[in-house]
Amino acid sequence: MARITAGVAASHVPAIGAAMDHDKVGTDYWRPLFEGFTWTRSWMAEQRPDVVILVYNDHATDFDLRLIPTFAIGCADTFQPADEGFGPRPVPPVTGHPELAWHLAQSLILDEFDITIANELAVDHGLTVPMSLMFGKTEAWPARVIPVVVNVVQYPPPTGNRCWLLGEAIRRAVLSYDEDLDVQIWGTGGMSHQLQGPRAGLINRDFDVAFLNRLVTDPQALRRIPHIEYLREAGSEGIELVMWLIMRGALGADVKELHRHYHVPASNTAVGHIVLEPTS
Ligand code: DHB
Ligand code: FE
Repeated sequence: MARITAGVAASHVPAIGAAMDHDKVGTDYWRPLFEGFTWTRSWMAEQRPDVVILVYNDHATDFDLRLIPTFAIGCADTFQPADEGFGPRPVPPVTGHPELAWHLAQSLILDEFDITIANELAVDHGLTVPMSLMFGKTEAWPARVIPVVVNVVQYPPPTGNRCWLLGEAIRRAVLSYDEDLDVQIWGTGGMSHQLQGPRAGLINRDFDVAFLNRLVTDPQALRRIPHIEYLREAGSEGIELVMWLIMRGALGADVKELHRHYHVPASNTAVGHIVLEPTS
């Protein structure tokens, strides 16, 4: 039986990918950010998950205003890094797990989550930056990946509660897959940031730290945060945090916190990172 062994969350600032690609990780600006991922890299090397269900958002890169799925799942064999304007990042292609992905699609849809099936998908910084953070620079990614894409770019994004319920449905789907697979689920994006308008540069450490705490101590309260509160407290792009609730919903009632890192600034964003283990 497949099982979900851990949940990981991390921000996905594009400049983090550029810093890694251009060997800037040891500079004064970047070192404190990357030091927070050292623990996770060695833990990840011990864990060796078979598959990562990677919840992320496309930034009008492969999807655009012509087509806006609220939730989509990547069922392809391979996902190429997208060209976001400066050529694709020099990172390996991402290998999918079509059999498990199609099982998830079937289970979710029959469980009344009408997720869009994507058989071709170029993955942007929303997916490749968390991969680089967790696995470092590498010739080939050490785990297969099933991308789950969430619309948080064009209003209306899904509610936090809907995301939580999708996480619960993903858990049921994984547990009903026969093959013995170690599956992790990652929630990406966030934390507080706003890239536009008079409040550009907004960071809210109190909100972010409370969010990290409540993932462990009071996750039910997070389900009820309305969009307007994310906007007000975490900035216009802080809404990316709803993707963390898919991860948390998939872990079951109780979790143990294994590791946490919070760092400001990385570009315009408060970078948050947490590693959770399901205990119930
Ligand atoms: C930044 C953060 C993001 O989440 C993003 O998608 C693009 C840019 C930033 O802080 O620069
Ligand atoms: Fe983003």
